[in-house]
Amino acid sequence: MIIVDAQAPDMPIVFVNDAFLRMTGYSRHEVMGRNCRFLQGPDTDVEAVRALAQATGKGKAASLDVLNYRRDGTPFWNALQISPVRAADGQIVYFIGSQVDVTARKAAEAALEAAAEAQARTAQQALADRTALLHEVDHRVKNNLQLITSLLVLQTRRTLDSATRTALESMLSRVSAIATVHRRLFQSHDLERFDVATFVRDLMGDLSSDREDVDIQLEMERVDIAAAQAAPLALAVNELVDNAFKHGLAPGNAGRLTIGVRRLNGHYVIEVCDDGPGLPDSGEFAPGFGLTITNLLAQQLRATLTFESAQPGLRATLKLPADG
Ligand SMILES: Nc1ncnc2c1ncn2[C@@H]1O[C@H](COP(=O)(O)OP(=O)(O)O)[C@@H](O)[C@H]1O
Ligand SMILES: [Mg+2]
Repeated sequence: MIIVDAQAPDMPIVFVNDAFLRMTGYSRHEVMGRNCRFLQGPDTDVEAVRALAQATGKGKAASLDVLNYRRDGTPFWNALQISPVRAADGQIVYFIGSQVDVTARKAAEAALEAAAEAQARTAQQALADRTALLHEVDHRVKNNLQLITSLLVLQTRRTLDSATRTALESMLSRVSAIATVHRRLFQSHDLERFDVATFVRDLMGDLSSDREDVDIQLEMERVDIAAAQAAPLALAVNELVDNAFKHGLAPGNAGRLTIGVRRLNGHYVIEVCDDGPGLPDSGEFAPGFGLTITNLLAQQLRATLTFESAQPGLRATLKLPADG
């Protein structure tokens, strides 16, 4: 500890204890009568020291961790506490300063901070690596699906047999739907979620170009599903839309196709509704390959798939648990 004279010019030190001398490396005659600014050095925070002087100038007690220097020039962290001592008339006569070397604590704090920072940086880097990798995978999958799509287009063109051609066209439409999913996933910033409404808009953009006779209505809310569910959902929606075009709105009978995407009581609901003839009577109705896989996909999505009459037409409803 030290005591300085508050009334003498430049507040000289009038008392130091041995501990102060041991801590700073000075001998008593070197410090007596001096202002204690000799403890400051090149890396001392001058702003902090000024704030301290201001506080004591107003007669307040103050405390501060400040970088000080020993006689041999080595720095140490000083936890400084200064309190005024008043005479009976209220005038400040002394300031008592207590000083504790907290270099070890400061070093520990700095090490802890550095470790936490390093850890945060590593975690951030790992996340960035993972994101880049996922992005790269989406990119490759997208390109490969486009390649498969092109192959199917070429093969369909060369196929004369109409049944084979129809089968190839169906596969082409399915692969295209999955390719659209991966194009979306690749373009999206969020690699975990899949925006169903945007996908439906893409899909309808692709399909509607050769069906200008159909009035397409989109009634969509924002619905994001887990990226892992994107492909099965896209395939199922593609089958339902394909059926609506093919069976509900057969070329020639212009009609309306409404697609709804919305949230409802903890579920996501996707509706495909045409105004065609509706499903044939149950006696004659047999699900083909399309509806068979659609039912399997619905199971995989833990969704229910229902058909009802839209009077006229057919409404297919796919209802899946939100965030399932
Ligand atoms: N939107 C619809 N309107 C009328 N009939 C439909 C509709 N969707 C499906 N169907 C009927 O259900 C049958 C089975 O459909 P699907 O399993 O997709 O096979 P595909 O489309 O290859 O015929 C269709 O052949 C058709 O008779
Ligand atoms: Mg079908």
